[in-house]
Amino acid sequence: MKDSLWRQPYLIELTYADNFSLVENSIRGRNLRVLEVGCGTGFMSLELARMGHDVVGIDMNEKILRIARRTMETDPHSKTRGDLRYEVADFNEWSDDPGTYDAVLFSRVLHELPHPRKILSRAHHLLKNGGRLVCLEYAYDGMDRRAATWLYQIRRVLELLGWYSSHLPENPKEGVDSIMKANLYARREHINKYDEMRHPLEQLFHGGHFSWHCYHCWDVFRDMRVPDQKKEKALASLFKGMEQILIDSREIQPVLFLFVGTKAPA
Ligand SMILES: C[S@@+](CC[C@H](N)C(=O)[O-])C[C@H]1O[C@@H](n2cnc3c(N)ncnc32)[C@H](O)[C@@H]1O
Repeated sequence: MKDSLWRQPYLIELTYADNFSLVENSIRGRNLRVLEVGCGTGFMSLELARMGHDVVGIDMNEKILRIARRTMETDPHSKTRGDLRYEVADFNEWSDDPGTYDAVLFSRVLHELPHPRKILSRAHHLLKNGGRLVCLEYAYDGMDRRAATWLYQIRRVLELLGWYSSHLPENPKEGVDSIMKANLYARREHINKYDEMRHPLEQLFHGGHFSWHCYHCWDVFRDMRVPDQKKEKALASLFKGMEQILIDSREIQPVLFLFVGTKAPA
């Protein structure tokens, strides 16, 4: 777990747990049928099932789904939770009866799926009338120099203290350039732009809730290595709190957004 946020519970509280709260608050109702696309290790699907929903989680990565299944099989709450089923599948080729689900969830996956309109139309088809689409996604193309400058400052200070595992250029301008480049171009071969996701979301799903959330700090948390856990926890809370202030005052462009909408008639 050395390079993972799961190495410390306080890092999970500030990241994955907060993301799950956003999803939990977006899926209202009891005993719903939920589909999670790109469920990864399945922590969201599992928690939704523990809340009493019947959940299908699909992911194309067999190795990752093996972890999800192992967790599901050893879950001490297995007798009281809703149904939980995982399938290894590419969502582009996977299908189920039309109108099966009360909610379809995309968490941190839509940005990497080519042709988002086609993908969202498939989700629309699978939802019941009035069903909900919940999408917690990255808009990496929105990364701006102010955010990169703020990140450089934090990361470089941690690095100089010996508390950061990667190396940034000493020259601040080169450092900011390298953060911009890493965020805009080095993540994956294909990344959907914000507008490429937002337009079909708004057209296919109505009455939407939309909000921006912290994510820049996740990258800092992954690589920081503060020997004293109390200090690491305090610093992590400080960085996230600062990011929230900068987002609220529109000083930096956030990258993580939540969209929740209801199936509009086709
Ligand atoms: C960043 S992870 C997100 C995992 C989880 N939803 C979360 O929020 O922590 C993205 C996941 O989507 C899966 N994925 C990518 N393309 C997919 C596709 N076409 N069909 C199904 N799963 C896919 C990947 O294998 C990966 O596990």
